[in-house]
Amino acid sequence: MEAAAKVVARRTRSSLAASCGLAVNGGVVVFFAAAVAGALVCASWMSAGARVPWITPVATRDTAQDAVARPERAPTLPRLAVSGTVTNRTPTLSANLEPRPPAPAPEQGASAAETTSSSCPAYFRWIHEDLRPWRATGITREAVDGAHRYGPKFRVTVVAGRLYVARYGRCFQTRDAFTQWGVLQLLRRYPGRVPDLDLMFDCQDLPVVSTGNHLGRASSPPPPLFGYCGSEPTLDIAFPDWSFWGWPELNIKPWEALRGEIDEGNSAVNWTSRAPYAYWKGNPTVGADRRNLLRCNASGNRDWNARIYAQDWGKEVQRGFRESDLAKQCTHRYKIYIEGRGWSVSEKYILACDSVALMVRPRYHDFFSRGLMPLQHYWPIRGGRAMCRSIKVAVEWGNAHTDKAQEIIGNASKFIRDELTMDRVYDYMFHLLTEYARLLKYTPTVPDRAVEVTVESMPRGRQGRERQFMVDTMVDGSGSGGPCELPPPFSSEELETLRTRKADAVRQVEMWEKP
Ligand SMILES: *[C@@H]1O[C@H](CO)[C@@H](O)[C@H](O)[C@H]1NC(C)=O
Ligand SMILES: *[C@@H]1O[C@H](CO)[C@@H](O)[C@H](O)[C@H]1NC(C)=O
Ligand SMILES: *[C@@H]1O[C@H](CO)[C@@H](O)[C@H](O)[C@H]1NC(C)=O
Repeated sequence: MEAAAKVVARRTRSSLAASCGLAVNGGVVVFFAAAVAGALVCASWMSAGARVPWITPVATRDTAQDAVARPERAPTLPRLAVSGTVTNRTPTLSANLEPRPPAPAPEQGASAAETTSSSCPAYFRWIHEDLRPWRATGITREAVDGAHRYGPKFRVTVVAGRLYVARYGRCFQTRDAFTQWGVLQLLRRYPGRVPDLDLMFDCQDLPVVSTGNHLGRASSPPPPLFGYCGSEPTLDIAFPDWSFWGWPELNIKPWEALRGEIDEGNSAVNWTSRAPYAYWKGNPTVGADRRNLLRCNASGNRDWNARIYAQDWGKEVQRGFRESDLAKQCTHRYKIYIEGRGWSVSEKYILACDSVALMVRPRYHDFFSRGLMPLQHYWPIRGGRAMCRSIKVAVEWGNAHTDKAQEIIGNASKFIRDELTMDRVYDYMFHLLTEYARLLKYTPTVPDRAVEVTVESMPRGRQGRERQFMVDTMVDGSGSGGPCELPPPFSSEELETLRTRKADAVRQVEMWEKP
């Protein structure tokens, strides 16, 4: 089964940084009476009446990017969690992998009755926003095919509960494989409930469908294109990135497992006993602002309260990223999140750290970050030349107001713990795909060049972590209730309120930063 290697070696110029901008959701009312004393000491009270969901990513280590070569040999497997046969090197996909009968296509609108009554997190409301460009017109096959001009890397078609993929190009490392694996697990998790659909997927770091090109052309709506992040000036539809199912090349475990490890680490070192500085480790070569961040490192005569480390990718690649254990990077009171080429997958790991997330003004959003609110879930940091000073002020503020700082941490942790579980990730995919499918004006059929992808075919020939992560993230539908209930779209007033609140919070912090 040497076929394995070929699948993975895809490499793109894309980076791995995944993070898209910020989004706001909910409402936050934060009143800060800030008394800025002296140079940078804010004596401020945060009396927050915040009740906004979340926003913000944080920076952790980032993703590697171009430079990362795929390790030659499959690393040895950690323990195998699969029921059934456990072997040394190559986990057997036994019990869990029994082929299932194809699920029947769901009936439109059926099954609402089985749905659990709990409402999905507020950030799910952005699903409606992301699909708004097609709300009036629906989505035609021509519109979907029209995405070809943006160079999508694959097409996902679901017909009668089976997944078919047509490849158009290569994705960096195993992004596409783990994304498709995620869709397969969704089909297993909600058998018979994922409608037939047909969509184009891009696996690069940046959103590409510019709003400007499609303004005022109601007669020909933009091509819908799924990707890992979006931004204000683009229309790309944000879908959960591959790292939720693991990132084998970087030794980043599937989200549920890694989050557990990070939690364990967190409980070992409480916040007050952590280093009272802002920490960042990652690849500084992607994105202009990362170069600005390097300037904030403590040097002989200046201390901006930041401790910045450049990841040595060459070395890490050789060592299988053993030095980059994310669960061991929660050692500082503050962690910086900064975008790379696009959003960064590090966002969720930073938010999980029980540190105050210092988010350098993001330009991109991933599917959940629009639920984060500045000062409620994270502290906003300026980009560009003002960044170092902004970090210094944030750290001084937090060290002087440890109770408030810990409240922000508590809210971020709660978001991660309650609203970003794999259950919710699957529910987000479910609702996004269901709403998308509802807009289709044609009956999806299997495209000519597409091949069926199954839980048996996908791991075939893969070894080491690639295979392991697939085994570890296999789900089935038994025991999971129905998906949470999709909340309604925002009204335009609600959207406006969110924007205003967020902007006000950011402005507030900028005022405190004034010398
Ligand atoms: C945190 O750890 C320090 C040092 O180990 C200890 O003195 C302090 O009481 C701990 N604080 C809390 C809230 O557990
Ligand atoms: C930042 O400073 C620390 C301590 O001087 C040093 O170890 C580290 O390598 C510096 N980071 C970078 C990116 O130069
Ligand atoms: C944390 O969340 C709670 C509940 O949503 C909210 O009342 C509180 O104001 C939040 N704290 C901050 C600092 O925003």
